[in-house]
Amino acid sequence: MLLNVRQYGDPVLRAVSAPVEKITDDLKNLVENMLETMYATEGIGLAAPQVGVNMRLVVIDIPEDEEEGEEPEMITVNGEQKPMRSIMPLVFVNPELEPYGKQYLFTEGCLSVRGIRANVSRPEFVKARLTLLDGSTLELDCGGLLARCLQHECDHLDGFLYVDRVSSAAKITLAKKLKKLAASY
Ligand code: NI
Repeated sequence: MLLNVRQYGDPVLRAVSAPVEKITDDLKNLVENMLETMYATEGIGLAAPQVGVNMRLVVIDIPEDEEEGEEPEMITVNGEQKPMRSIMPLVFVNPELEPYGKQYLFTEGCLSVRGIRANVSRPEFVKARLTLLDGSTLELDCGGLLARCLQHECDHLDGFLYVDRVSSAAKITLAKKLKKLAASY
């Protein structure tokens, strides 16, 4: 079932979400619907608050860059090198992130902030401790798009949006558009 993706201005996007205490059938059902919604909107990540649920739950699916002759992107998963694609789709609750490395600018967009993209500065790498739906723990160490996506999605769980993190000059440029979005959500 496709879910309604909440838009900028909706207070549900600004709340701090609660930890998931138990993986229930309802939660698994929500995950299925979130994945379906993410694929239908061509997103690469979706956090539960974006569909109106203030729980610390995220789904991510990053496609492999399909350049010919490119090696698959490798990341560290529980201490072992594995292809990034091997853990997709990635569904987790109660993430703990430790971003590290140099800040770098990258263009972000968000399914909850329609029609806008902007450069955001974040650390290049992330160490993450994620709880999967079977109760197991996944420890990741990664860079690239996954590190970026993890930081963006986990921000949603604390009520932050990427537009909060753009430079002050970019904030001035975005202000009008954001005001319009907030008025029409
Ligand atoms: Ni987002």
